[in-house]
Amino acid sequence: MIKVLFVCLGNICRSPLAEAIFNHKLKLSGLTEKFYVDSCGTGDYHIGSQPDSRTVFSAHKHGMEIEHACRQLIKADLMEFHYILAMDNSNYRNILLLADLPLKFSSQVLMMRHFDSFDKGSDVPDPYHGDAREFQLVFDILNRSLDGFIAHLAKEHAL
Ligand code: 4NP
Repeated sequence: MIKVLFVCLGNICRSPLAEAIFNHKLKLSGLTEKFYVDSCGTGDYHIGSQPDSRTVFSAHKHGMEIEHACRQLIKADLMEFHYILAMDNSNYRNILLLADLPLKFSSQVLMMRHFDSFDKGSDVPDPYHGDAREFQLVFDILNRSLDGFIAHLAKEHAL
Protein backbone atom coordinates (compact mmCIF):
# COMPACT_ATOMS: atom_id res chain seq x y z
CA MET A 1 0.00 0.00 0.00
CA ILE A 2 1.48 3.32 -1.11
CA LYS A 3 0.48 6.15 1.24
CA VAL A 4 0.12 9.66 -0.17
CA LEU A 5 -0.72 12.84 1.76
CA PHE A 6 -1.57 16.19 0.15
CA VAL A 7 -0.91 19.25 2.31
CA CYS A 8 -1.99 22.90 2.05
CA LEU A 9 -2.72 25.58 4.64
CA GLY A 10 -6.43 25.33 5.34
CA ASN A 11 -7.20 21.84 3.96
CA ILE A 12 -10.43 23.14 2.42
CA CYS A 13 -9.32 24.33 -1.06
CA ARG A 14 -6.18 22.92 -2.69
CA SER A 15 -5.29 19.70 -0.87
CA PRO A 16 -8.81 18.17 -0.80
CA LEU A 17 -9.07 18.95 -4.53
CA ALA A 18 -5.69 17.29 -5.14
CA GLU A 19 -6.93 14.27 -3.18
CA ALA A 20 -10.16 14.12 -5.23
CA ILE A 21 -8.37 14.42 -8.59
CA PHE A 22 -5.75 11.85 -7.57
CA ASN A 23 -8.44 9.39 -6.41
CA HIS A 24 -10.30 9.91 -9.68
CA LYS A 25 -7.18 9.18 -11.73
CA LEU A 26 -6.40 6.10 -9.63
CA LYS A 27 -9.92 4.81 -10.22
CA LEU A 28 -9.64 5.31 -14.00
CA SER A 29 -6.33 3.39 -13.96
CA GLY A 30 -7.61 0.59 -11.70
CA LEU A 31 -5.01 1.51 -9.06
CA THR A 32 -7.29 2.46 -6.15
CA GLU A 33 -6.53 -0.65 -4.10
CA LYS A 34 -2.80 0.01 -4.16
CA PHE A 35 -3.08 3.38 -2.41
CA TYR A 36 -4.07 5.04 0.83
CA VAL A 37 -4.73 8.74 0.15
CA ASP A 38 -5.43 11.61 2.54
CA SER A 39 -5.06 15.39 2.81
CA CYS A 40 -4.53 17.83 5.65
CA GLY A 41 -3.62 21.41 6.46
CA THR A 42 -0.73 22.96 8.35
CA GLY A 43 -3.22 25.41 9.94
CA ASP A 44 -5.99 24.65 12.41
CA TYR A 45 -8.61 27.18 11.25
CA HIS A 46 -11.05 24.76 9.63
CA ILE A 47 -10.64 21.47 11.51
CA GLY A 48 -13.69 19.27 10.93
CA SER A 49 -15.00 21.36 8.02
CA GLN A 50 -15.98 20.02 4.63
CA PRO A 51 -14.12 21.37 1.57
CA ASP A 52 -14.89 24.95 0.47
CA SER A 53 -18.04 25.12 -1.70
CA ARG A 54 -15.96 26.45 -4.64
CA THR A 55 -13.66 23.43 -4.38
CA VAL A 56 -16.67 21.10 -4.33
CA PHE A 57 -18.10 22.92 -7.38
CA SER A 58 -14.80 22.57 -9.24
CA ALA A 59 -14.57 18.82 -8.50
CA HIS A 60 -18.19 18.15 -9.49
CA LYS A 61 -17.82 20.25 -12.66
CA HIS A 62 -15.11 17.82 -13.74
CA GLY A 63 -17.14 14.73 -12.79
CA MET A 64 -15.17 13.96 -9.63
CA GLU A 65 -16.41 12.96 -6.20
CA ILE A 66 -15.10 14.89 -3.22
CA GLU A 67 -15.56 14.01 0.44
CA HIS A 68 -13.19 15.08 3.18
CA ALA A 69 -13.27 16.40 6.75
CA CYS A 70 -10.47 18.90 7.37
CA ARG A 71 -7.70 17.82 9.69
CA GLN A 72 -4.38 19.32 10.74
CA LEU A 73 -0.97 17.83 9.91
CA ILE A 74 0.59 15.93 12.82
CA LYS A 75 4.14 14.73 13.41
CA ALA A 76 3.15 11.08 12.99
CA ASP A 77 2.20 11.83 9.36
CA LEU A 78 5.90 12.25 8.62
CA MET A 79 6.50 8.61 9.49
CA GLU A 80 3.22 7.21 8.18
CA PHE A 81 3.10 8.49 4.60
CA HIS A 82 5.52 7.55 1.82
CA TYR A 83 4.85 10.75 -0.11
CA ILE A 84 3.87 14.14 1.34
CA LEU A 85 3.09 16.70 -1.34
CA ALA A 86 3.12 20.37 -0.33
CA MET A 87 1.05 22.83 -2.33
CA ASP A 88 3.38 25.79 -1.77
CA ASN A 89 6.71 26.79 -0.29
CA SER A 90 5.20 27.97 2.97
CA ASN A 91 3.47 24.59 3.48
CA TYR A 92 6.74 22.85 2.56
CA ARG A 93 8.70 24.77 5.20
CA ASN A 94 6.03 24.18 7.85
CA ILE A 95 6.04 20.45 7.15
CA LEU A 96 9.81 20.31 7.64
CA LEU A 97 9.57 22.45 10.80
CA LEU A 98 7.20 19.91 12.30
CA ALA A 99 9.72 17.20 11.49
CA ASP A 100 12.12 18.49 14.17
CA LEU A 101 15.35 19.21 12.38
CA PRO A 102 17.74 17.39 12.09
CA LEU A 103 15.41 15.47 9.88
CA LYS A 104 13.72 12.67 11.76
CA PHE A 105 11.15 11.45 9.30
CA SER A 106 10.79 8.80 6.67
CA SER A 107 8.34 10.45 4.24
CA GLN A 108 9.48 11.97 0.98
CA VAL A 109 8.38 15.60 1.27
CA LEU A 110 8.02 17.17 -2.16
CA MET A 111 6.45 20.18 -3.82
CA MET A 112 3.29 19.27 -5.74
CA ARG A 113 4.58 21.16 -8.77
CA HIS A 114 7.82 19.22 -8.77
CA PHE A 115 5.72 17.02 -11.07
CA ASP A 116 4.25 19.81 -13.20
CA SER A 117 5.34 20.01 -16.83
CA PHE A 118 4.93 23.80 -16.66
CA ASP A 119 6.56 26.13 -14.08
CA LYS A 120 8.07 23.08 -12.36
CA GLY A 121 8.58 23.49 -8.61
CA SER A 122 6.55 26.68 -8.20
CA ASP A 123 3.59 27.15 -5.85
CA VAL A 124 0.03 26.00 -6.38
CA PRO A 125 -1.47 29.46 -5.75
CA ASP A 126 -3.79 29.85 -2.76
CA PRO A 127 -7.26 30.49 -4.27
CA TYR A 128 -9.04 31.22 -0.95
CA HIS A 129 -9.40 34.96 -1.59
CA GLY A 130 -9.87 34.52 -5.34
CA ASP A 131 -12.81 33.78 -7.59
CA ALA A 132 -13.83 30.97 -9.96
CA ARG A 133 -10.87 31.77 -12.24
CA GLU A 134 -8.37 31.03 -9.47
CA PHE A 135 -10.14 27.78 -8.67
CA GLN A 136 -10.04 26.76 -12.34
CA LEU A 137 -6.32 27.61 -12.46
CA VAL A 138 -5.72 25.47 -9.36
CA PHE A 139 -7.67 22.61 -10.95
CA ASP A 140 -5.59 22.80 -14.15
CA ILE A 141 -2.29 22.92 -12.23
CA LEU A 142 -3.26 19.97 -10.03
CA ASN A 143 -4.59 17.97 -12.96
CA ARG A 144 -1.28 18.36 -14.83
CA SER A 145 0.93 17.83 -11.78
CA LEU A 146 -0.94 14.70 -10.74
CA ASP A 147 -0.48 13.18 -14.19
CA GLY A 148 3.24 13.78 -13.70
CA PHE A 149 3.14 12.33 -10.17
CA ILE A 150 1.31 9.20 -11.35
CA ALA A 151 3.83 8.73 -14.17
CA HIS A 152 6.59 8.99 -11.52
CA LEU A 153 4.84 6.47 -9.25
CA ALA A 154 4.28 4.08 -12.15
CA LYS A 155 8.01 4.11 -12.84
CA GLU A 156 9.13 3.94 -9.17
CA HIS A 157 6.73 1.19 -8.17
CA ALA A 158 6.38 -0.64 -11.50
CA LEU A 159 2.59 -0.11 -11.51
P1 4NP B 1 -6.11 26.06 1.22
O1 4NP B 1 -6.73 27.53 1.17
O2 4NP B 1 -4.82 26.17 2.00
O3 4NP B 1 -5.88 25.73 -0.22
O4 4NP B 1 -7.15 25.18 1.89
C1 4NP B 1 -6.96 28.30 2.32
C2 4NP B 1 -8.10 28.07 3.07
C3 4NP B 1 -8.34 28.85 4.20
C4 4NP B 1 -7.44 29.82 4.57
C5 4NP B 1 -6.28 30.03 3.82
C6 4NP B 1 -6.05 29.26 2.70
N1 4NP B 1 -7.70 30.63 5.72
O5 4NP B 1 -6.90 31.54 5.98
O6 4NP B 1 -8.69 30.42 6.39
